[in-house]
Amino acid sequence: MKAPVVQVVLRVGRMHLRRGPRGSAPPDAWPGGRVRCLPMSGVPADLEPTRRAAWDRFARRDALFHADPNTGDEAEFLAAGRRNVARVMEWLGEDAPRGRMLEIGCGPARTAEAFAAFFERVDGVDVSPEMLRRARARPLPPNLVLTATSGADLEPFDDGAFDFVFSHLVFQHIDEEAVVASYLREVARVLAPEGLALLQFDTRPPSRLAAALSALPDPLLPRSRRRHMRRHRRDPARLRALARAAELEPMRERGGAGPEHWFFLRRS
Ligand SMILES: C[S@@+](CC[C@H](N)C(=O)[O-])C[C@H]1O[C@@H](n2cnc3c(N)ncnc32)[C@H](O)[C@@H]1O
Repeated sequence: MKAPVVQVVLRVGRMHLRRGPRGSAPPDAWPGGRVRCLPMSGVPADLEPTRRAAWDRFARRDALFHADPNTGDEAEFLAAGRRNVARVMEWLGEDAPRGRMLEIGCGPARTAEAFAAFFERVDGVDVSPEMLRRARARPLPPNLVLTATSGADLEPFDDGAFDFVFSHLVFQHIDEEAVVASYLREVARVLAPEGLALLQFDTRPPSRLAAALSALPDPLLPRSRRRHMRRHRRDPARLRALARAAELEPMRERGGAGPEHWFFLRRS
């Protein structure tokens, strides 16, 4: 079985340095060694290296815990990924897209791997190359390609490249609205005209306790409450407005005002 390729997208200041040409050509077809400079997405320059360093550290310490604190050993972790995907495929029903899909923040790729049984090709992206390395430690399906990206955009991918874009347990960890807004614009860009996005956010009402805990220094907090791992609650009305501003139309929702609020979005 052929191992998927990890492309590394580096960011220096406000520019990207990326190996290989832009576009949807399979990364394993890229000639090595070419480096190009590309403009960035309007997100402050110091945000993403900090986020990458944090998630790389989490991945080295305990990737599975940081990907999902509720699952135990690897077998259980992968089984939870398969269950999540079975649930999503059931939601999508008979008309589920089957072509090319993208998972944003795939981490150790438990769901991306399970999606590969349903889609022709799956691209999993993550801000943390270490998380992707953790995924590659096990044999993965040949139609799964893992790419380390900037943490704020989907620059390696062509406009209209995907029939389905998915993200779970990722946006809840991003506290800067500018990054969420940038991703929504990027999702609109990379979706095919009839494509569908399914994105999860935490939309529980604000909590004074959570806000007070966030003000404490990390060493005083349990791992799941520390910076980057803690969950950020968002107002669903604001998310709908951000989606519309990004030219995505909210079609349907599940699990509203809860920790797993799912938004089904199409290009408007
Ligand atoms: C809690 S884990 C969830 C992983 C995976 N979605 C799952 O359900 O197993 C969050 C993942 O999102 C990644 N991540 C965090 N911020 C990101 C960002 N701005 N862009 C892309 N990936 C990000 C982290 O590196 C980590 O792998």
